[in-house]
Amino acid sequence: MENKKSGAIDLNVTDFMPITRQEILAVNSLPVDIFLKISDTKIVLIGRKGSRSLDDLHVLDNEVVSEFYVRKNEYRDCVGQNLTIAGIIISKSDISDPTKTEFLTRTAFSVFNEIESVGFNHESLEHAKLVSKSIQNLISSKPDLLSVLNMLGTVSDDLLRHSMAASAVSVMIAKAMGWTVQATLEKVALGGLLHDIGMKELPSDILTKPRYEMTPEERLYYETHVTRGVEILSTMPSVADDIIAMTMEHHENALGQGYPRRIRDFKMNPLAKIIALSDCFCELTLKNINYPMPRSSEDAINYIENTMGQPFSKPALFALRKALTKSSNIGVVKIAS
Ligand SMILES: [Fe+2]
Ligand SMILES: [Fe+2]
Repeated sequence: MENKKSGAIDLNVTDFMPITRQEILAVNSLPVDIFLKISDTKIVLIGRKGSRSLDDLHVLDNEVVSEFYVRKNEYRDCVGQNLTIAGIIISKSDISDPTKTEFLTRTAFSVFNEIESVGFNHESLEHAKLVSKSIQNLISSKPDLLSVLNMLGTVSDDLLRHSMAASAVSVMIAKAMGWTVQATLEKVALGGLLHDIGMKELPSDILTKPRYEMTPEERLYYETHVTRGVEILSTMPSVADDIIAMTMEHHENALGQGYPRRIRDFKMNPLAKIIALSDCFCELTLKNINYPMPRSSEDAINYIENTMGQPFSKPALFALRKALTKSSNIGVVKIAS
């Protein structure tokens, strides 16, 4: 509700999402309206969509101010623009690796906020963030992993966002299944990040075409991203066999109707069962070329169970539901003091 006299709006955490200073400074013009928190319950509009962020928003020069918000339903537009920048930054050869890693960390922050809006509970998200941080450290220390991640950023914004989201959601599913070994969770996270790396070999006319518009031949060609990804990762010393299996089997399903080998659930690598579900769930719930109107988490699970006939591992789906169950902490916006 707007207060006419002060221009302040009631801060309702269900309508607004926090955004970092870095995310705003990274853009040339604001992709959405930006708000500043002025009290525990009030925010004011400080930058209109389309304005030039650096010139118009002097308030951003104030290092003390860090509590910015955007409307939740506009957050995806913000993330999209940021990922464009992330792709440019990580693909540039004259930018140092630490700078690239730092930008990836910020990008991961954006993706986590977007995933949070899908409805994952606080505990699951916090755990996935920790694992994400540790694999970002791992990636920054392994030149082969950093170079393969650079490849992802050069393909498309959607792919970078999808890969980061699939990574985080896979970790949340694994954790909710009771998996606790850090090394395994890191493998799950890395597998989620790299599972679609084979897309980099596909031409842009295939990558920019929704699957429902592809001819059968184009569809078969598109499906080669799986084996192309395996070929790329097999040459890399830092990539474990489980990660290669996750890549190879991320489009297989429990009904034996997937590709490329049409293997059933019991023959699949346990980590691959998780990425297969996570991959599908992320595609249904995060805006992308195949689903321009993303579904809510509830709709997505209904779609998986009823329309698709539940083609994924039952324990993994059960765990996904568990990670989506609201906890007492959900909805609390954490503000640095
Ligand atoms: Fe894929
Ligand atoms: Fe995928």
